[in-house]
Amino acid sequence: MCGIVGYIGKGNVAEILLDSLQRLEYRGYDSAGLAIINQKNELVVKKDVGRISNLRNEIFQDFQSHSCTIGIAHTRWATHGGVTKANSHPHCDCKNKIALAHNGIIENYRVLKELLIEKGHVFQSETDTEVLVHLIEEVYKEKKGNLQFAVVEALKLVEGTYGIAVVCTDEPYKIVGARNGSPLIVGIGEGEMFLASDVNAIMPYTKNVVYIEDREIIVIQAEKDDQLKTYDLNYERVSKSVSVIDWDVDAISKGKYETFMLKEIFEQPDSVSTALRGRVVLSEGSVKLGGLNMTEVQVRQINKIIITACGTSWHAGIIGKYLIERFAEIPVEIDYASEFRYRNPIIQEGNVVVVISQSGETADTLEALREAKRKGAKIIGITNVIGSTIARESDGGIYLHAGPEIGVASTKAFTNQVVSLALLAIYIARLKNMPLYEGEKLLKELISIPDKIAEVLNHAEAIKEIAVKYAKVSNFLYLGRGFNYPAALEGALKLKEISYVHAEGYPAAEMKHGPIALIDENMPVVFIAPKDQLYEKIVSNIREVHARNGKIIAVTNGDAANINEFIEDYILVPQTIEEFSPIINVVPLQLLAYYIAREKGLDVDKPRNLAKSVTVE
Ligand code: AGP
Repeated sequence: MCGIVGYIGKGNVAEILLDSLQRLEYRGYDSAGLAIINQKNELVVKKDVGRISNLRNEIFQDFQSHSCTIGIAHTRWATHGGVTKANSHPHCDCKNKIALAHNGIIENYRVLKELLIEKGHVFQSETDTEVLVHLIEEVYKEKKGNLQFAVVEALKLVEGTYGIAVVCTDEPYKIVGARNGSPLIVGIGEGEMFLASDVNAIMPYTKNVVYIEDREIIVIQAEKDDQLKTYDLNYERVSKSVSVIDWDVDAISKGKYETFMLKEIFEQPDSVSTALRGRVVLSEGSVKLGGLNMTEVQVRQINKIIITACGTSWHAGIIGKYLIERFAEIPVEIDYASEFRYRNPIIQEGNVVVVISQSGETADTLEALREAKRKGAKIIGITNVIGSTIARESDGGIYLHAGPEIGVASTKAFTNQVVSLALLAIYIARLKNMPLYEGEKLLKELISIPDKIAEVLNHAEAIKEIAVKYAKVSNFLYLGRGFNYPAALEGALKLKEISYVHAEGYPAAEMKHGPIALIDENMPVVFIAPKDQLYEKIVSNIREVHARNGKIIAVTNGDAANINEFIEDYILVPQTIEEFSPIINVVPLQLLAYYIAREKGLDVDKPRNLAKSVTVE
């Protein structure tokens, strides 16, 4: 949550900061601000609530930064303190000489604030962050001329998480950054340097990136020989290597689409193909997963798998559980990452923990990973963002290869997560018990999925018509069975997230144990009802809803004649095997949620109160 950026160089500082910040807006968009050191060596700080476009207007009305060379900026997802201009970052010290942008939470801020107030510091905001800049000021007074020292000594007093960028008018040629629990990267350009929460921010400017680790301090400046220095908290130099990002700038633009979310939904035939590319070995009925870092013997010895994740990734994890249990016959537990670390998960010899995260930065998931590691588990990370913290801290993993996902509501990452889990399940199964012909049959079906998703996308206009019809409804129920129960959860989550309509996902058979009481003529019920071994059972559930006047929308490839008389609307999906059907069936649910939200005139890429990457617990 929250995005931070820093820039040093000869470019237009304000323009570059705003442009980079805009690409981080999915991390939070309650308010935004920037601090630039001007030619008179003064800090110019501009802030505004709402979107970065508001800030842009303000800056270009009364501030030109052509001759400035250094600045930091922030886009906020509020934790401590309301959404106000005063609470927006960057925050400054009492003399307006030091400015700081922060992503994370300072947990002991109350105690520190009292101490600082006693020492005469005056606070302008209700945030936890502001204590840090005053602490830096306090240390800086003692050892003037050493911003790095002041930052390190201040951080030693702080409990919590941070990714920070700090500038000071007494040292107007450097940015000091630090990380603990919130992501931070440095971009190395031609005579210019960047600091940012993630690589999306700086992609148009440079592809050369250095990933900063927890408890590392960096000093960046534009001079050629001294661009980046990294230290630990004991002032020891840490050597770093430069990674080259291979994502294209086009991947982070909307192209011909009205929103990122729609683009990402429509990208799914391609993104699923990319996830499969080079991994399917049909002749062996098997799968190549180069990044797992496990020997075949180790894989055969896995006796239990625990999957942990949050939100949409957790939904993919449930399907992963079903796939691994069915194909590889290994017991699998699934747990919300936020619950996992606060109970006492039993991890024993031979257990593997699979951690799923699009961003690779979700705080709950990262902490679950660390707890599992402390207990001795081998970690497989399934992530999309290359070089993300979860990817780096896992023992091995599978990259989703979905390309950048910018829309806050996850779509193409979900389908690629399920595909990756299917590959993992088949890989393990083939090393254990699955015969060649079975592996071959499953993989043939898996490689047909992109075309089947494309078929669903061809029906987008028909789905839009259904969405328009239901756009004014205030409650929805999503029901599915077996492999499509998680698809029902995901469909409901998509609707809640972007259209603010209350929606519940439920196993269809559970409906009669409670939710059936909700059903009347005002309750649309989306049934995910593919023609599989549970089809007749779900038809019975459809009849139960119909008998109570519920309005039924069926996502199905079943025999229309069988259910026609009970359903209001029908979304036809292509046939696949039961195990892979949620990969296809979720797509119309994404579109349904999308068009309902658009019909309500909502900003689907940046739904209220949410952020793409939740880096606070
Ligand atoms: C999905 O639409 C949500 N934005 C959210 O539930 C998300 O899946 C969750 O926060 C986990 O994110 P991650 O995959 O990046 O870890």
